[in-house]
Amino acid sequence: MTELECLYAECESAFRQKWPDEKKPLVFGDGCNVCPPIMLIGEAPGEQETLQGRPFVGKAGKNLDAFLQLMGMERSAMYVSNVVKIRPVETGKTGRFRNRAPSRDEIAFFLPYLLSEIRIIQPKALVSLGNVPLKALLGDEATVGELHGTWQKTAEGVALFALYHPAAVIYRRELSAVYEQDVIRLRDSLTIETSK
Ligand code: URA
Repeated sequence: MTELECLYAECESAFRQKWPDEKKPLVFGDGCNVCPPIMLIGEAPGEQETLQGRPFVGKAGKNLDAFLQLMGMERSAMYVSNVVKIRPVETGKTGRFRNRAPSRDEIAFFLPYLLSEIRIIQPKALVSLGNVPLKALLGDEATVGELHGTWQKTAEGVALFALYHPAAVIYRRELSAVYEQDVIRLRDSLTIETSK
């Protein structure tokens, strides 16, 4: 087993102990896991991710395509993961499950595993998508509204570029030009920033 596989096994076993009634599979990261130029960090898997066992597939994967196109990079050249590795759900009015925001408890449980994931993979830079990964890595006072399009540093000294979540850009069309500029800025500054 690789160090990353061991970490995922440890995370799965601790999760099943803490939430024994939760039967859904955990969804871990995928892509280039040896010093990739960037590691994308989203919020949590959705329904398709849980079915396919990979982050950012289905509609979320389509939303990510615009990012990949602007970056001029293949998805396989980067690592893609989430803060929370389980799909957070609630029961809607019709009795069907629907996605909900991850709870503080879920984020606090998964954060140490995310930090170990980053330490093992050693990406040159992290790219946070939305508020959940940004706050988890920089602290609660950080907001994507203020920090989007800027380079930050995590407490562990890893370069982090803040972006809006691609899904937010679909719901808030007014963000799309800003998002595009931010991604171009990331693309153009990546080499400079990661050689510091
Ligand atoms: N799918 C993911 O894997 N992560 C997100 O943040 C959203 C959708």
